[in-house]
Amino acid sequence: MLPLNDLTDIRENYRYHAAEMSTSPCYHAWANGVADDPEVLRVLSDLPILKQQANLVFAAARRHGLEPGPYEDLRALLLGPAWPAVRDTILARRTQTNEVARLTALTPALGMLGDGPLALVELGASAGLCLYPDRYDYVWGGAGRLGGSGGPTLRVPSVGPLPVPARHPRITARVGVDLNPLDVTDQEDMSWLLTLIWPGHDERRDRLAAAIEVTRAQPPHLIAGDMLDRLDDALDVAAASGGVPVVHHSAAVAYLDERDRVELEKRLRTLVAAGRCHWISLEGPRVIPSLAATAATSPSADHHFCLAVDGQAVAWLQGHGAALGWGRL
Ligand SMILES: C[S@@+](CC[C@H](N)C(=O)[O-])C[C@H]1O[C@@H](n2cnc3c(N)ncnc32)[C@H](O)[C@@H]1O
Repeated sequence: MLPLNDLTDIRENYRYHAAEMSTSPCYHAWANGVADDPEVLRVLSDLPILKQQANLVFAAARRHGLEPGPYEDLRALLLGPAWPAVRDTILARRTQTNEVARLTALTPALGMLGDGPLALVELGASAGLCLYPDRYDYVWGGAGRLGGSGGPTLRVPSVGPLPVPARHPRITARVGVDLNPLDVTDQEDMSWLLTLIWPGHDERRDRLAAAIEVTRAQPPHLIAGDMLDRLDDALDVAAASGGVPVVHHSAAVAYLDERDRVELEKRLRTLVAAGRCHWISLEGPRVIPSLAATAATSPSADHHFCLAVDGQAVAWLQGHGAALGWGRL
């Protein structure tokens, strides 16, 4: 008999996901259910490690008709005849959650770069929804507001001396790089993006649907490929538009391995030092540790992202954009 896989790691991962998913009772229960279920763990452990993530597995199950409900329904699907089709979806798709609430942090950071026109380059852009900071109104609860865009309103409670911008940025280019760019005009792609929103997160789902409409009105320039390979091409497109290039990334560098993270940081620091672009990073504190190290305070939770402008930490954002702290959170 072949030795059985050790299920310890995947069980621990599902326990971790369960804690992370505490704001979605259904996913929280599903992740705990999987962690307690050796039969399901064994099926999932045959997937490549990067494909074992709860968010991807659960979204794929929902794409195949599973409604949010009791864990037993998920179990029946994963152990039943539909599994090969669910597995194909897991292998074909990625977690590419595109969260425009992160613009509540990006927009004040752009305001710190002056009044001139800006040419945006986003690394790991997904569908490019975060390339439209000028198309939203903002309410930074406790700090101020910015209106007049004609678009949807993004709201976030904030603390600290947030530099509320006096006007929207002027954007001359919206260039995104992604390993697998999603197309806002493609029904399947957008349906997958919507499925990635956790059950119960209705506000996020509405925000995403509105953001897809905003982006569809003038789709971005998306370049398919690895961010390290395509950074220079993207910068060339941005620079040609006449604006000052700004490279930004959020919840994306975390997907690079350690060597590529170091390489990307080195390249961006060199570009900034040469005056070729500004750099805005919004990532977990351990993703580019040298940035979080410049913060005056530590985040109050691990899943808070560090906002850094040209290498200097300025704020913390709850990962999905639910709270913003200028200086501290
Ligand atoms: C979680 S999404 C974040 C999307 C967007 N930045 C946001 O904050 O809403 C991460 C994106 O990074 C992309 N990605 C991961 N590794 C990449 C790489 N090496 N080069 C380019 N894109 C990458 C994924 O395909 C995915 O679309």
